[in-house]
Amino acid sequence: MTRDEYIQLCHELWQHNKRYYIDCSPTISDYEFDVLMQRLIEVEKQHPHWIEKFSPTQRVGESLTDGFQSATHKVPMLSLPNTYSDEEIVDFIKRVEKNLDGKKPEYCLELKMDGTAITVVYEKGVFAYAATRGNGLMGDNVSQNIKTINELPLKLDTNNPPDILEVRGEVFLELKQFEKLNQNRDEDGLPVWANPRNAAAGSLKLLNPKEAASRRLRVVFYAMAQGPFEKILTQYEVHEYLKSLGLPVLTEIALCKEEVQIWSFRDRIHKLREKLAFEIDGVVIKVNNLKSQEQIGATSKIPRWATAYKFAPEQGMTKINDIIVNVGRTGAITPVAILEPVSVAGSTIARVTLHNQDEIERKDICIGDTVIIEKGGDVIPKVVSVVLKERPSYAKAWKMPTQCPSCKKDVVKLEGEVAFRCLNEQCPEKTYRHLTFFVSKEAMDIDHLGVKVMKQLIEKGYIQKPSDIYNLTKEKLLALDGFKSKSASKLLESIEKSKDVSLSRFIMALDIRYVGKTTADDLAFHVNDIWDLSKKSVDQLVAIEGIGEKVAVAIFEYFKDEGNLSEITAMLELGLNVQKSQKTLDHMFGGKVFVLTGSLNKFTRDEAASLIKERGGKVSSSVGKKTDFLLAGESPGSKYDKAQKLNIEIFTEEKFIESL
Ligand code: IVH
Repeated sequence: MTRDEYIQLCHELWQHNKRYYIDCSPTISDYEFDVLMQRLIEVEKQHPHWIEKFSPTQRVGESLTDGFQSATHKVPMLSLPNTYSDEEIVDFIKRVEKNLDGKKPEYCLELKMDGTAITVVYEKGVFAYAATRGNGLMGDNVSQNIKTINELPLKLDTNNPPDILEVRGEVFLELKQFEKLNQNRDEDGLPVWANPRNAAAGSLKLLNPKEAASRRLRVVFYAMAQGPFEKILTQYEVHEYLKSLGLPVLTEIALCKEEVQIWSFRDRIHKLREKLAFEIDGVVIKVNNLKSQEQIGATSKIPRWATAYKFAPEQGMTKINDIIVNVGRTGAITPVAILEPVSVAGSTIARVTLHNQDEIERKDICIGDTVIIEKGGDVIPKVVSVVLKERPSYAKAWKMPTQCPSCKKDVVKLEGEVAFRCLNEQCPEKTYRHLTFFVSKEAMDIDHLGVKVMKQLIEKGYIQKPSDIYNLTKEKLLALDGFKSKSASKLLESIEKSKDVSLSRFIMALDIRYVGKTTADDLAFHVNDIWDLSKKSVDQLVAIEGIGEKVAVAIFEYFKDEGNLSEITAMLELGLNVQKSQKTLDHMFGGKVFVLTGSLNKFTRDEAASLIKERGGKVSSSVGKKTDFLLAGESPGSKYDKAQKLNIEIFTEEKFIESL
């Protein structure tokens, strides 16, 4: 490499750094970034006199963001050295032993969470502030956004809190939630997030905490920067202590002494990766004893007592046979690549979303191209890059169709959006998607109305809008292919059953822009019935906890539309029984405060929280005098002991289900 090429590489890496940390929208994969960075480090080793002050090796980290107060870290926030190679782990072990005068230490093995680092300070057991890493010495104070995370206690679960506790951890998004956010972004014509980590980092930097709340971030902690070190001797004990305070901690922690145990932990976690609800990008190996950590020491950026082994993403090479488009519920037209099926990370991938025209142009993707597909632990495969030297002469650039593939009406690109849209309200594909959503599990939950049946019902003109579903008769159903008396009765029964619906589900089923499950729960809790909601002004809506300006405007606009109002009236006249008052006020959960602990079998915590809220209850993160009930799943945490001490009624999962 020449010196000019070295400078060029520095610039290139800075560009990537900026796209990653500031725009939260990288254009290369982490793996590619790491490879470039590794190359830079190698060159600098060979030519130390070349090293420029502005080289990314001299300062790796994110910048501060306008709009946030900065927070100085009392203890610097270090990063971790990382490697994809077994040899370097062996070298790490040797170096550690040398630094410990030849003694073999115990290691604490952990998941490497693929999120964004956070530090949270508690003063006398009460949340004081939270900050991002920033440049390691100073970060952004993101307290308002962090406080929207349900599992983060605002008060520690102890009667004997330290004066100051500073904990370090990772803010992340579950994969399902990430997928949902990206789907919404596609539909909203916004650029999608490259991965859950960027989405989490971007969400932490939102200036509107209500918007941040709707992202449903999560957090776990894995280190203590300030705290009662006099009584905590190992990294393992740090985890135990944080857990005892009611803080969310890592799962899958293991202790080991022998190198072979490190490999078996690594292999086990690699297999487990696909099953996790969130992304990890490797494992972290830490010397367990805190005194030994001190003895080994750290540089100004990284510890010498810990390292990360990263899993290389699994990639596959294949051909794009075609690019088709999907029409979404809101009319967003999304290009999808049809691939020569390829097996990556244990699953066969035959299609992959390309999101929008801009993304296709940015990656320079043509029909006929050979592309690299990547799938991390992540369930969503993506095109990383085109193998240009494999581009055939017949490769064809793709252009967004000018007409909707479903209704043939012109598609348009609205100002400020990257998506193209079909604006035709009668578009059959939009109608189909809208109706499918209406009957889905999360909305009206109508069984026996699958794809085939729905398509036929629309084709025959029996249903065009949701209320038509409640006008279906046995005669109409018997006119469909494959329908017999028994299947018709089953479907009619499901439709009948769906008429008893909670206000929250009903609001959700209306498919108002930006109103997902959480928002529907919040709205249902604060209004008496659907007409009450329909009369609220934007200001009144914004005053409801959890509702931001954009959502409020969308709700207001929805109820201004005469068509929407008459559709609601029609459904109510056809016998829909939207329950808010009986269920919530009469239910034993009405007005009661629940705290959740341990893992449930039948529900996620979010689902359990929704069920409680639907019945007029509230959910809080820590056990206190105001707690009425504790819902305790398997392996409950310290909240369980505390609840027992305070004589709080404890619900097992079975008892909870019965009470519903
Ligand atoms: S410890 C002094 N433990 O990885 C060491 N970090 O690449 C500080 N990370 O900045 C970090 N899982 O954001 C630690 N189990 C874990 C981790 C972890 C994820 C993140 C963290 C750190 C980055 C370094």
